Amino acid sequence: MILVTGGAGFIGSNFVLDWLAQGDEPVVNLDKLTYAGNLANLASVQGDTRHTFVQGDIGDTALVERLLAEHRPRAIVNFAAESHVDRSIQGAEDFIVTNIVGTFRLLEAARAYWAGLPEAERGAFRFLHVSTDEVYGSLAPDAPAFTESHVYEPNSPYSASKAASDHLVRAWHHTHGLPVLTTNCSNNYGPFHFPEKLIPLMIVNALAGKPLPVYGDGQQVRDWLYVKDHCSAIRRVLEAGTLGETYNVGGWNEKANLNIVHTVCDLLDEMAPRAQGGSYREQITHVKDRPGHDRRYAIDARKIERDLGWKPAETFDTGIRKTIAWYLANEAWVRDVQSGGYRDWVAAQYGAQGGNATTAQPAA
Ligand code: NAD
Ligand code: DAU
Repeated sequence: MILVTGGAGFIGSNFVLDWLAQGDEPVVNLDKLTYAGNLANLASVQGDTRHTFVQGDIGDTALVERLLAEHRPRAIVNFAAESHVDRSIQGAEDFIVTNIVGTFRLLEAARAYWAGLPEAERGAFRFLHVSTDEVYGSLAPDAPAFTESHVYEPNSPYSASKAASDHLVRAWHHTHGLPVLTTNCSNNYGPFHFPEKLIPLMIVNALAGKPLPVYGDGQQVRDWLYVKDHCSAIRRVLEAGTLGETYNVGGWNEKANLNIVHTVCDLLDEMAPRAQGGSYREQITHVKDRPGHDRRYAIDARKIERDLGWKPAETFDTGIRKTIAWYLANEAWVRDVQSGGYRDWVAAQYGAQGGNATTAQPAA
């Protein structure tokens, strides 16, 4: 079996669902259930004995040690993180605590567990750390895309905390021999994306008749990858990646933010026309820019394609259409996220304190 951390978040939950759809290997899913963790994402595997959900913190060493001893995973896939750049600007502490200290503690627990494994299992063990292209900083308009050897130049508290975690993972391999793999992926989009991030925010605000806030001139460029392609890349790196190496993951889909927002509006005009007529584009509003806003990210994904034969299955056109269709079909999920209703189950299950280290199945 494998231990997934942060598996109730956007990418982690997509990964758990895909993992269980692809094979029968069980997953233990350790997630703190911060505001970004949502057990409704995992409703379709409720009652599936291959999935064990544990509410808890990657920084809780006693808990992680117990889970490792009890379940004896052959791999750890670490998604758990604070992930939203704007929140890291408002306050960085949670980012330091989870992304840096939490990763450190998880590495230490993994190292002790790995060192105690019988030789054959020790050789097969993997610690896969899921990271981001933001660690490389910002690219000039004509600069080549980020390769794995690009210098680390993180610019936000979020990306600095992720960069620090990448360095720790690297050091635990170099110094202690821990069998690690790191992936650095570009911007994901798709089902279960929390509507604080650009694409889902634009979809839900458009449908609610609210303004569509574009930061600054909207000409910042991101490189978009459908979340299920990120999941398939992680599975492939876990299966065949070279220990100690990093793999950039991306979809060769560089787009300016304003272009993304126009695409979302145009597809909504087609798939869910406004009752009052006119285009959703009329709701676009330019707002104050994000402080320290990185201008451009772009991933050179040739290494993972060349060495591991991985390629994305979706183009941006197919992926964004699927994404919008998913949000239109899942209004209840959006409503629960916006009302905070998705947290009621946690309160009911774990009590007012939120509970700790309780094994449970997700709510419907
Ligand atoms: P997310 O914010 O949607 O989910 C993060 C999950 O981690 C949540 O379920 C949360 O409850 C959990 N978590 C937070 N702190 C924890 C802790 N201390 N212990 C246990 N669980 C904790 O994030 P996401 O977008 O799914 O990103 C997942 C990972 O992928 C992150 O490491 C992020 O840096 C990385 N990443 C994200 C993107 C993207 O576009 N979203 C791109 C590249 C890499
Ligand atoms: O590049 C990978 C990263 O992508 C991940 O590591 C992060 O976890 C993930 O959150 C994402 O970071 P971004 O900052 O790029 O994503 P976000 O959706 O917040 O913003 C995308 C772009 O859209 C960015 O240039 C800021 C802009 N934006 C965002 C919001 C929320 C707006 O113009 N308006 C908005 O309201």
